[in-house]
Amino acid sequence: MAQMRLDKFLGEMGLGTRSQVKELVKKGRVAVNGQTEKKSDRKIDLSKDQVLADGQVIEYIPWEYYMLNKPQGTVSATEDSRYPTVIDLIKDKKRKDLFPAGRLDVDTEGLLLITNDGNLAHCLLSPKKHVDKEYFARITGTLPADAVQKFQEGLVLDDGVKTRPAQLTLLNEGSLTAEVVLTIHEGKFHQVKRMFQALGCQVVYLKRIAMGPLRLDESLKPGQYRPLTAEERTKLKALETGKDG
Ligand code: URA
Repeated sequence: MAQMRLDKFLGEMGLGTRSQVKELVKKGRVAVNGQTEKKSDRKIDLSKDQVLADGQVIEYIPWEYYMLNKPQGTVSATEDSRYPTVIDLIKDKKRKDLFPAGRLDVDTEGLLLITNDGNLAHCLLSPKKHVDKEYFARITGTLPADAVQKFQEGLVLDDGVKTRPAQLTLLNEGSLTAEVVLTIHEGKFHQVKRMFQALGCQVVYLKRIAMGPLRLDESLKPGQYRPLTAEERTKLKALETGKDG
C-alpha cells in the first residue's frame, strides 16, 4: 500500500475524524514535503513523502502490537459505558483502530494482546487453531483427588457442553483453597471459572500468563504494557502461516 489519501493518512494516525482532518488541512496546518497542502484528497506516497501537521512530522505506522497486563476493573472492549477499557490504558498509541485480541473477564488479570492486526487476531482466536491459553488461578473449595485426570478427560459445563482436554498443574493445595495453573485449548465464555464450577470449586483470582507463543512479561504490573519485541511478533506471525484455519 504505497499510496494513501492525505485525509485518510491523518485520520489513521489519530489526528481526528475525517471532517476534523479536512478542516486541519483547509486551515493550512498540514504540509507535504515542506509545502503547505490544502487538498485533503491528495495522494501521499508512503515510501517517500513527508507529512507535517503543525510543524510535527507524522510518521505512518501501519500496525501496532502491545502486550498488556490487564488489570481488574477494565473491560476487554474498545468502548464501554461503565468501566475503562483496555484500549484506554494504551496511552501512547499511534493508531485509533486498536482492539483487544480476545477477551478476559472484568475481574481477570493478565496477558492481552492489543493490536489493529485483524488477521493475526483471527488466527489467535480461531477455534480451528486450538491456541493454548495458560492461566494461574486461586480457587476455593476442595478439588477431587482425580482433578488432573478430570480436566484431561474434559469437563461437562453448566450448559451441557464438554470441554476439550485441559492440563491442570497443582502448585499449592490446602484443604479449602488451591493455587493452580491450567492450560486450555479453546475459549468458551467464562471457561476457566465454569470448569472449576463443574467440580464444585470457585475461582477467586484469575490471571492469564500465556497465549500461544506469547508469555506475559512478569515485569509488567497490572495496567502496564509494552510493544511486542520483534521476536514475539515473528512467533505470532508464524501462526498465520500455519496450516489449518
Ligand atoms: N476463563 C474465565 O473464566 N475468565 C476469563 O477471563 C478467561 C478465561
